[in-house]
Amino acid sequence: MALLEILTYPDPRLKDESQPVTAFDDALRAFVADLEETMRLGPGAVGIAAPQVGRALRLAIVDCSSKAKLPTNHGRMILINPEITEWDGFAVGREGCLSVPDFTGNVIRAERITLEARDEHGEHRQYQFEGYEARAVQHEIDHLDGLLFLDRLVSRRNDLFKRKTYK
Ligand code: NI
Repeated sequence: MALLEILTYPDPRLKDESQPVTAFDDALRAFVADLEETMRLGPGAVGIAAPQVGRALRLAIVDCSSKAKLPTNHGRMILINPEITEWDGFAVGREGCLSVPDFTGNVIRAERITLEARDEHGEHRQYQFEGYEARAVQHEIDHLDGLLFLDRLVSRRNDLFKRKTYK
């Protein structure tokens, strides 16, 4: 496995629209392993998306298993060609991002979502997420569409916060 370089804002590649994965082969699974290893080194990271390492593929990893007492928590998931099919409610919450290491921000997200995706073997999956996990999934899918949490702040003045510590 290999660690991958994480692109940081304002790298223009973070704004690219990613393309669907078409080959569910060993090369894909090797990339997933590298991407996951890279995520694990990020402080407190609960997700990473392929375009954050310069691969414009519709592929993300989410793992909230380090967080306690969440409304839903599916643990480690490989989400490939994900599509949100249902949205319900909304909530404001604080987000951070490996590609925006010096800031966090308050973003409005759907409270509950239904998601369809494939895994790294091409198997079709359906998930229902609520709360923090739903937020993490929506954040990662945004990366596939070239969006950062910075693009969703209601107010740059009131909703953007400089990180004091890295944890
Ligand atoms: Ni991010």
